[in-house]
Amino acid sequence: MNQEKLQKAREYEAPYIYMQNNKPRPKFHLTPTIGWMNDPNGFSYYKGEYHLFYQYHPYTTEWGPMHWGHVKTTDFLSWEHLPIALAPDKLYDKDGCFSGSAVEMPDGRHMLVYTGVHNQLSEDGQTVGIQTQCIAFGDGVNYKKFTSNPVIDSSTLPEGHDKIDFRDPKVWIEQDGTYKLVVANKTSDGGAVLLYHSPDVICWNFETILASSHNKYTQMWECPDFFSLDGKQIILVSVQGMNNSGLKFPEGNGTIYIIGNYDTKTGIFSREQILPIDYGIDFYAPQTVDTPDGRRIMIGWMQNWGTLNYRTKDQDWFGQMSIPRELSIQNGRLIQTPVRELNQYRNNKVLYRNVLISGERKLSGIKGRTIDLTVNIHKTYDYKYDCFQIEFAKDALHSTSLSYYSNSNTLKLDRTNSKNTPDAASICSLKTYPNGDMLSLRLIIDKYSVEVFVNNGESVMSMVICTAQNAESITFNSDGNTLIDVEKYDIKS
Ligand code: FRU
Repeated sequence: MNQEKLQKAREYEAPYIYMQNNKPRPKFHLTPTIGWMNDPNGFSYYKGEYHLFYQYHPYTTEWGPMHWGHVKTTDFLSWEHLPIALAPDKLYDKDGCFSGSAVEMPDGRHMLVYTGVHNQLSEDGQTVGIQTQCIAFGDGVNYKKFTSNPVIDSSTLPEGHDKIDFRDPKVWIEQDGTYKLVVANKTSDGGAVLLYHSPDVICWNFETILASSHNKYTQMWECPDFFSLDGKQIILVSVQGMNNSGLKFPEGNGTIYIIGNYDTKTGIFSREQILPIDYGIDFYAPQTVDTPDGRRIMIGWMQNWGTLNYRTKDQDWFGQMSIPRELSIQNGRLIQTPVRELNQYRNNKVLYRNVLISGERKLSGIKGRTIDLTVNIHKTYDYKYDCFQIEFAKDALHSTSLSYYSNSNTLKLDRTNSKNTPDAASICSLKTYPNGDMLSLRLIIDKYSVEVFVNNGESVMSMVICTAQNAESITFNSDGNTLIDVEKYDIKS
């Protein structure tokens, strides 16, 4: 096999890069120019710009043999599309270039580390996707796969580990110039994150099991990340088939973070906290980058493998990324806020203070589908209500709602009425942390999605919404009396 597949895919995509702005698509969330997109890959700072790659099947709006799409940005909101970086064109990755990561090498090359998949027939006649870790080097546009790929195969796995599910390497360079990566795998008691190290990116050795499910956090883990943040170490991982236990974790496919301390001498990661990264329906496979100005920024696939049917039929693209989020740790929890660069895209400020909501009410100037909207609910005993609700993306027949139930301190985001949602999950909930005398809800709405940042990012809910774009009304409703402040900005191009 040669580079024909890459050339073909690049030529196929090229005209759509120029046409993309004429199509209905989110204004400031990344979407593919054409075709299918899933996980963010290779989120990295390279020669003064941020590069992002993604799982990509340009030819249809369904998942297919994975390529790596490629974009770059300087502000995390305006993305420049670059030619496709990888195509499944080698024997060891002929069935897909699965998820992975990237770093800038000391010699100036951009290195991609990814999972190559090739199908084989097992002894009992089943097709098995053999997964190995591979590398490619490039200059920020063109990438060449390493001639001795794969660099890690399942023979390096410890005894008793699953030899098939072994994917999604996340690489970084240590201070001493050596390389490390984490990769997802399975042990007999469920999903696991393994740590490997290498002096030279070519020869890799298994180091330790950094974290595992212990049969509690599902059998299947994917897309790990591992980094230090605010004096702690943190593991991010995507989990499949979670059972909800008292709203602690969203049901089904989701993401978790594990905060703890990693002892480099013993190789032991001691856990302190395990919680969902996002309580919404649509957030998966996040990946982070550290920036020269000291921030750790995360982006995720704003979609759920379980709800692929909930989509707009007339679009020739499928899949979008979340808004990139700045991470920090406060009071032992992960805090996420939309990248500060978003502020430069805000205009048309509308501000209300101390508005009493009693029954349903509209506020002049508060509407739209590409907006940054903050609603602060005053928590004072003078005003009593059980349910306060914001409805948005609303017309006579449709709406999506965010409801706050004061007695149980619960938030519910519900898209049941957003359009026909055949068999897709439509509701997600979380318990807010009792916190001060305000509940702050920041809604980032961008045509086909909403991301709700609660109390300045102590919890987040993300959800795709497919309602037609002329549904842009917003109403507020209280079953008693609720006092709120509202601040709204439009997001300009
Ligand atoms: C997660 C995932 C990864 C895999 C990729 C394939 O969404 O299943 O584990 O590398 O998607 O597209």
